[in-house]
Amino acid sequence: MPDRQIKALLQSILGDRASFGVPLKTLTTLGVGGPAKALTRPENVEELAAVLLATQANGLPYQIIGAGSNLLFLDEGYDGVIIKLGRSFQAIDILKGDVIKAGAAAPAHRVMGKAIEAGLGGLECLSGIPCSLGGALAMNAGAGDSSIGDVITRIFYITADGKYASKNRDELDIQYRRMKGLPQDAVILGAEFQLAPVPVSYIKSRVDELADKRSATQPKGVRSAGCFFKNPPGESAGRMIDECGLKGASVGGAMVSGVHANFIVNTGEARASDIVALMNMIIEKVEKKYGVTLETEVKIIGSGGEVE
Ligand code: EPU
Repeated sequence: MPDRQIKALLQSILGDRASFGVPLKTLTTLGVGGPAKALTRPENVEELAAVLLATQANGLPYQIIGAGSNLLFLDEGYDGVIIKLGRSFQAIDILKGDVIKAGAAAPAHRVMGKAIEAGLGGLECLSGIPCSLGGALAMNAGAGDSSIGDVITRIFYITADGKYASKNRDELDIQYRRMKGLPQDAVILGAEFQLAPVPVSYIKSRVDELADKRSATQPKGVRSAGCFFKNPPGESAGRMIDECGLKGASVGGAMVSGVHANFIVNTGEARASDIVALMNMIIEKVEKKYGVTLETEVKIIGSGGEVE
């Protein structure tokens, strides 16, 4: 279908909540990336299903985006439909005393805050992570030894054919910075968490402790995607990159943070190609020194979808 008709189709579903040629650098914390064919903001499951069916029918790829804090879009842009769940997917409810159910578009820190207010512990690892709950679930986000996966009991989602479904914890395969066991085309709508009643003062001190550690060891107020690489088993990517002498190394506007070497920072005018070149240089140097190939934690998205 020509672009003009795709535009009309998406506008018929979403009105002015469908926009076109949107620069992806405005949607991610790294602040790079060319234009997306379309950006859609469905406000309910029916609209979301209609957008998914429209992309399927037209052979277009789609990409869900939350706060954009773990995505690197390339300069070529994205030749498909970006889906950003609207505000009605942000509900957070406390069920049965110590179970919380929250929507994928809710900011992760707000879900944690609501749990703390209710005296429920288990989500402290989300402290300071600038992501949506959906992003945190998709990536099994966390800090230190704990991750959101520790307390998930059920994930709700919809598949590309518009069908609503859910999976229990025992049907999921929750790994370090990876959520497996959901269908490939699943769009996460939200999740339920089993938390534990804990004195509020204890949870708050744990959150403060994590925040203090973060502010002492990670860069603040910069454009980055947090840690760029996953830690290899039993190792720290940051330490390895640091020991290769790469703090402060740069390509164009992309620089290895001088504070934490696993952060690639956009110093202002970086292009995605600068970040990719710096990333490749890091991988090569670490491989040479340690014989270990770093894997990105950040998802890299080219014009047709995720690139390896
Ligand atoms: N280190 C260095 N140089 C550096 C960075 C770290 O020598 O430039 C050393 C530290 O001194 C420490 C070790 O490496 O001995 C580990 O560093 P750190 O405690 O900062 O933890 P990390 O493994 O680098 C992980 C997560 C972070 C999370 C922190 C919380 C990954 C890839 N990173 O970092 O998550 O905030 O623990 O402690 O799992 C993210 O996922 O985006 C992220 C930032």
